[in-house]
Amino acid sequence: MLNLKFLGTGSALPEKVLSNRDLERMVETSDDWITTRTGIKERRIARDDVSTSDLAAAALTEACANAGVEPGDLDGIILGTSTTDTLFPSTACWVQQRLGIKGMFAFDVSAGCSGFLYALEIASALMAGGRGRRFGVIGAEVMSKVVNWRDRGTCVLFGDGAGAAVIGPGSGDSGILASSWGADGSLAPCLYQPAGGTQRPATLETVQENLHTVHMQGRHVFRHAVEAMASAALTAMDRARLTADDVDVLIPHQANIRIMEATRQRTGVPAERMFSVVDRYGNMSAATIPIAIHEAKQAGLLKDGSILLTTAFGTGFTWAAHAIRW
Ligand code: ACO
Repeated sequence: MLNLKFLGTGSALPEKVLSNRDLERMVETSDDWITTRTGIKERRIARDDVSTSDLAAAALTEACANAGVEPGDLDGIILGTSTTDTLFPSTACWVQQRLGIKGMFAFDVSAGCSGFLYALEIASALMAGGRGRRFGVIGAEVMSKVVNWRDRGTCVLFGDGAGAAVIGPGSGDSGILASSWGADGSLAPCLYQPAGGTQRPATLETVQENLHTVHMQGRHVFRHAVEAMASAALTAMDRARLTADDVDVLIPHQANIRIMEATRQRTGVPAERMFSVVDRYGNMSAATIPIAIHEAKQAGLLKDGSILLTTAFGTGFTWAAHAIRW
């Protein structure tokens, strides 16, 4: 077991709320369709002048304040995102610029909705290897800027936000009990942004064809998400020698309530122990898990000794799970 602690958590959410009723006026959809298919009622949308690093910096600032750590004293910043500020430099470096801090390493992890758990895995391995004592781990997205607002099959699903944690040396028996992660690049075209990178650089045509937005095979994603999230969670539980009854709080990636519920059922964790924010925020990709962790902590659900099980799935495809003693 790796002895570490979530020293502080934080989140940042745009003020603007976009409800299902608002979406009814934008595309041919209904509150009823969105609610029954996804469990989402509303999501937050960033202002035009707000980028991923703005939300990430605000979430990290709150996490540092709650941890009693100055952002400048962190040994490194690892940020999971698919909606980077720029192709280069990394959004983590823009976060440094926003906060006026420098020196510590800073980089992004591109693992879609698994981005925060990938970042946590890397940070914990660096800690175990003695490469630093306090890391800022962030999941942040402005999905609204890469969504095709005329495609009802995708635009109703996503929202914007950022969540962050400061992890550092633990006291007692808190820490990461076990983890599991993986990827399958053969399924990359099931969920991707086709243009804007080196495969298809931006041209007038790519813009006209909406190739800079989310392209997704929804049913395919659904099936693989449930299988991979459940399997990763069960592997982490097995490695940590935990049963479903041992889990106090289950936080799956908050893509939609049907994926979350199907995943939960396969893990055997009782329904009342699954924590969800998906109805209020939609799918914020890498940001969903750290925001849910922050809100579960604020709600008093995560106390010293609590067992937290997290599991995620995203573009790639990627997946990851952690069994954590809080
Ligand atoms: N409003 C009304 N009707 C819609 C909408 C909408 N917003 N979107 C699609 N439909 C229609 C379709 O056009 C289709 O109509 P048709 O039968 O006349 O062709 C019908 O609803 C059914 O469409 P399906 O895509 O088969 O609907 P499904 O029940 O599979 O639900 C959904 C779609 C919600 C996208 C589902 O496939 C899903 O949840 N997939 C996972 C996607 C996801 O969460 N991706 C996030 C990124 S990955 C991740 O975070 C894990």
